[in-house]
Amino acid sequence: MKSKVRKAVIPAAGLGTRFLPVTKTVSKEMIPIIDKPMIHYIVEEALESGVEDIILITSRHKEDLERYFDYNYELEDRLMKSGKVEMARGIKKIAESCNVICVYQKEPAGLGHAIGCARSVVGAEPFAVLLGDDLIDSNIPCTRQLLDVYEKEGLSVVGVMEVPLSETSKYGIVGGSVLSERTLRVENLIEKPAPEDAPSRFAIPGRYVVDSSIFESISKTKPGKNGEIQFTDALMDLAQKKGLLAYRFDGDRYDTGDRIGYLDATLTFGLRRPELRAGILALLEKHGKGEK
Ligand code: G1P
Repeated sequence: MKSKVRKAVIPAAGLGTRFLPVTKTVSKEMIPIIDKPMIHYIVEEALESGVEDIILITSRHKEDLERYFDYNYELEDRLMKSGKVEMARGIKKIAESCNVICVYQKEPAGLGHAIGCARSVVGAEPFAVLLGDDLIDSNIPCTRQLLDVYEKEGLSVVGVMEVPLSETSKYGIVGGSVLSERTLRVENLIEKPAPEDAPSRFAIPGRYVVDSSIFESISKTKPGKNGEIQFTDALMDLAQKKGLLAYRFDGDRYDTGDRIGYLDATLTFGLRRPELRAGILALLEKHGKGEK
């Protein structure tokens, strides 16, 4: 399926402090859900949404991430020679199916700054943004749902989900007027507000489709929350200048940057694998009974 939006930016330069000590030498995005790195699921969502070019915003410490999207001739050759043809094809597929462009974020100056690093690669085209800590499980990929809105309405759009008021301080929160059952026109956007300052309970879990004028907005954005250039603040500028929609996507979101959210995703995806299901259920029963 070809889409008019051909590029996706995936910020992946973070230090992964919530997963230390493993992230001392392994990129957070390479931590597996069962046997596939988290980044693989995110790239798959972009590809299944019709995106062709993946722009990874990374840093010089994360070569493991870059290498994952390259061929590994030696391993493929060995697997082929030992008759493991399916396995060889499997590891080759992700490298074959996308064009990955790595751009370094040279300083940790915030999400807005990270996305701004893609400017010269994206150029004047609209693009999708997918954050790697948010895994979204849905029939129609979440990014595809947003692209459909973008293509129909011609306006940039952020994916939103409803969260309890006690959790607004974890997310960018939108406020706006209802246009239809799933769509809002964004009039306000606040990065991680306290519950009493939240304009609504609609949170952005890391999925966006924006036109290239966002780069102008990013370049004008001053450091905000935590002294960082916040993408949320740049989006507010875009909302005021060109308009912005929020779309309540259909799907379940897992916060894989959090250890419990990560375990939840691991169990959900593991239970779907026929060869693992019975084993995982037996483990759950054992631990449910409090056995060691
Ligand atoms: C980032 C964004 C925030 C968004 C969140 C989704 O925050 O700044 O607006 O709601 O991702 O996961 P982070 O969780 O990286 O601090």
